[in-house]
Amino acid sequence: MEEERLRRALREASSALIRRIEELSFVRLVGDALTGEVERAGVGRALVGLLRDELGLEFAGLWTVDDVAGGLRATAWVRAEDRSPACPSPDAPLVPFSSGPIGAAVGGTPVLVSDAAAEPALPREATGVGSLFCFPVVARGRTIAVIGLGAAGPEGIDAEHERLVGLVAPAVALALESAVFVQRLASENRSLRAELTDRYGLIGTSRAFRQLLATVARLAEVDATVLVLGASGTGKEMVARALHHGGRRRDAPFVAVNCAALPEALLESELFGIERGVATGVERRTGVIERASGGTLLLDEIGDMSPVVQAKLLRVLQEREVTRVGGARPIPLDVRVVAATHRDLERAVRDGSFREDLYFRLKVATIRVPTLAERSEDVPLLAHHFLARAAARHGRAGLRLSPEAVAALAARPWPGNVRELENVIEQAAVMTEGAIIGPAEVGESATVRSRSELDYRGAVGAAVDQTERALIARALAASGQNRTRAARLLGIGRRTLLYKLKRYGLAEP
Ligand SMILES: Nc1ncnc2c1ncn2[C@@H]1O[C@H](COP(=O)(O)OP(=O)(O)OP(=O)(O)O)[C@@H](O)[C@H]1O
Ligand SMILES: [Mg+2]
Repeated sequence: MEEERLRRALREASSALIRRIEELSFVRLVGDALTGEVERAGVGRALVGLLRDELGLEFAGLWTVDDVAGGLRATAWVRAEDRSPACPSPDAPLVPFSSGPIGAAVGGTPVLVSDAAAEPALPREATGVGSLFCFPVVARGRTIAVIGLGAAGPEGIDAEHERLVGLVAPAVALALESAVFVQRLASENRSLRAELTDRYGLIGTSRAFRQLLATVARLAEVDATVLVLGASGTGKEMVARALHHGGRRRDAPFVAVNCAALPEALLESELFGIERGVATGVERRTGVIERASGGTLLLDEIGDMSPVVQAKLLRVLQEREVTRVGGARPIPLDVRVVAATHRDLERAVRDGSFREDLYFRLKVATIRVPTLAERSEDVPLLAHHFLARAAARHGRAGLRLSPEAVAALAARPWPGNVRELENVIEQAAVMTEGAIIGPAEVGESATVRSRSELDYRGAVGAAVDQTERALIARALAASGQNRTRAARLLGIGRRTLLYKLKRYGLAEP
């Protein structure tokens, strides 16, 4: 007697244990299948496939709540005879809230019906389904989806099914929520990147660069004067353009004037315009300030402006009107002013070469563009971007950077910033013989040093020579060392080519 009771207790205990193990392995199975799915459809397919197979059902489906559309959408379903789950078309009709058992489960309580015909949202092909069980998937107190289980007979669903679905529902909720999150992030990231690269051509993902972009985006919306500071080649002009294109003046002109390039007298008439006959033979000309009317005026290299022009510009900014050289009538000013310089303006103010009052007028808002060294994480991205451009320009599609070349680029100090990187890539694109650019082609020796380090003209000359030499070598290779054909390829005369061959030491094959 006693023995019989013990044996029964043991049997019960062990079958409870087995059931528990089965439950756990089922939960584990579902958990594993859902991790790694980053799309809702993927979560749905993985889930319904497992539910059908593991629970031996006629049908399993997942409907997700679409709050905007005001109903549920079928995300994935599978029938007993299907080989794999299907994702219904996104324009399939919505399942209205609280209509039928699926809609009713949105209320938060499971719904069991013994006649599947009560649910018009079941696929017409799911003819074998008798009873249907609808289970809400709840996240943070809100139903975000409904799991539907279909069994053959009217009594096909039991408490065991209900318990198992209840065990996996939290994992389903988590997977669905993170899928939504990942998708939103991905699409925001895509559109932000696309906008910045398409509209402004600004490339970079580093923290320092994202901060810069956020400032640019904020200041683009206001009309305040902006002073853009940063070392040579960091992208100050691009920032100025982005300020213009991101703001309400985007359809009006963007006009840039380089204050360092012109002598004082010319800069004055260039900026303010000049009336006819001011000097013999002078024709009337509008200045850049007028030409930028309604738009944005970039005063580039403002740190190099002479004191006389500084004083005149200050007056223009204060009075908000321009008077042409030799003109009598002031013209009202409607431009947004952006000024840029690589100089330390504060120091220039201290040593008296830049007017303090003008400095304060300009630096209503200041943007400091980081050096490339401060955002060296962006080097590979920029390098690939410039390579794609250079390769297209030189008809060298398929040209790639080797990982070692990328590593060499990332390790360099870049005193000439983005412009220097652009030059290095351009040269490498021209000089590289094969399809892969290696570390040697982007090494230090191939660099044009920044103008602060070296005589700028000398550096430009050397770069031009290097590029020209490489082009000639390539043309010779392409024409099988035939000089006449090479000259034609290069678009220069044969005699010029012969001269250049001597000059570059290419005369002897
Ligand atoms: N974030 C960026 N993404 C892509 N290209 C860039 C970026 N920043 C700069 N460049 C490129 O680098 C070069 C230098 O940029 P830009 O002329 O704007 O620099 P700058 O700061 O005005 O330099 P400088 O002080 O010498 O005038 C340009 O060819 C520009 O296209
Ligand atoms: Mg510039």
